[in-house]
Amino acid sequence: MLLIANAEGWPGIPTTVDLLRSGADSLAAMVAGIGEVEAETKVRSVGRGGWPNMLGEMEFDAGVMDGTTRAVGAVGAVPHTLHVARLAHEVMKRLPHVMLTGAGARRFASEIGLPQEDVLLPDSRRVWWERLEQELPPEALGRFPDVPLAPLLKAITDPERVRDTTVYLTADPRRGIHAATSTSGWAWKYPGRLGDSPIPGAGFYADSRYGAAACTHTGEMTMRCATARTIVLAMKLGHTLRDAVALAVEELRELREGFLGGVVIHAVDAHGQHQVTNFRCEGEIRYWLWEDSMPEPELRAAQTA
Ligand code: GLY
Repeated sequence: MLLIANAEGWPGIPTTVDLLRSGADSLAAMVAGIGEVEAETKVRSVGRGGWPNMLGEMEFDAGVMDGTTRAVGAVGAVPHTLHVARLAHEVMKRLPHVMLTGAGARRFASEIGLPQEDVLLPDSRRVWWERLEQELPPEALGRFPDVPLAPLLKAITDPERVRDTTVYLTADPRRGIHAATSTSGWAWKYPGRLGDSPIPGAGFYADSRYGAAACTHTGEMTMRCATARTIVLAMKLGHTLRDAVALAVEELRELREGFLGGVVIHAVDAHGQHQVTNFRCEGEIRYWLWEDSMPEPELRAAQTA
């Protein structure tokens, strides 16, 4: 059994490892761990600790994929709901659909007993409003939110906060290869913006025969390149894990226009190998690794592309 998760997944690693050790279903183990990430206010890109959209509202995205059946559940732009990875998992298990968004996702959350919550921290609200005060003249601030938001988007984009998401991947010869994600997305995003975390093929993909991949950071790039699916398809076509990730990085590198930033690719194959590759993110990127031969999970450094 192999588990990898990005560094921000730290609050849930012990829970996921304990559940995997006890033989629990892999996706259920990841969703339980991610639930702890979503509840942790120190993680500033997922759940309660995340940043709001331009209107000061929290909108969460999440996705899960069972690599054995290729079943997917995803939710996007979900308001007033903390445990969106669980919501995505329930979409997968209970509905004939793959993805729910916005009010429909919130309605389904109520139907399955997930409480309606005010998930915006007072500190996040303060930072959001101070940012608007810096950018809007007093007259526009007085009319807010009845002002055009699109022109503001560039001004208040904060690259330091465009780092986001938790991703978990598990691989086991018997239990298969699976993926799960959760995020509050891009800080100060335009309302309704979806990142790659709920988009199968972009932010995550799993196929127990070949491997899985999941991405963090700039979803605007991985959605254009279908990065996670590219990696798994490349392995299906006979590429090694290393070559499959290199191919996906090459496609990201070829993008010349649109919003360009960093991407971190997390990938595993069906031979028990893993690779975490940092494409253009500043600073050292680290990730969690746990294999059942290891007494404790370890924080490792990602490779640079
Ligand atoms: N990678 C997460 C996002 O773009 O929202």
